[in-house]
Amino acid sequence: MRHMLGCLALLCAASGYTSELPEGPAKPLVIGHCSACHSLDLVTSQRGDADFWLKTIRWMQATQNLWVIPSEQEDAIVAYLATHLAEGDFARRPNLAVELRPALPKPDNGKND
Ligand code: HEC
Repeated sequence: MRHMLGCLALLCAASGYTSELPEGPAKPLVIGHCSACHSLDLVTSQRGDADFWLKTIRWMQATQNLWVIPSEQEDAIVAYLATHLAEGDFARRPNLAVELRPALPKPDNGKND
């Protein structure tokens, strides 16, 4: 099992998806299990608690052909995601300060003079 996951992680690391994932013991498991069908950006752009992450996994298993993940690995993945991609963290960078935003042309709707 270790060996198989090592190969998976190696393959996925070669595709360059690792940079956004925080360090943690379950990081290779996430790379191995969660980058096969979609970008890890889809994972790192979401936030939630353990319940959210487990439900997301169950949803993919029920509707998207996600395989059954051995429960030890699944527990580690869910704990990792709930810790590092927890609800309340920024899901994206904050908006630019108003003074830093580029000027946009005014819409020509007759109401902006
Ligand atoms: C067998 C394929 C497959 C694997 C493996 C897979 N997913 Fe997905 N996942 C999907 C599909 C398909 C979608 C929907 C994609 C879309 O909306 O573009 C999705 C969507 C998501 C979403 C977005 C859900 C939403 O509400 O928009 C998250 C978060 C996610 N996956 C996390 C994970 C995690 C974490 C893992 C690893 C445990 C994983 N995925 C592994 C198929 C997979």
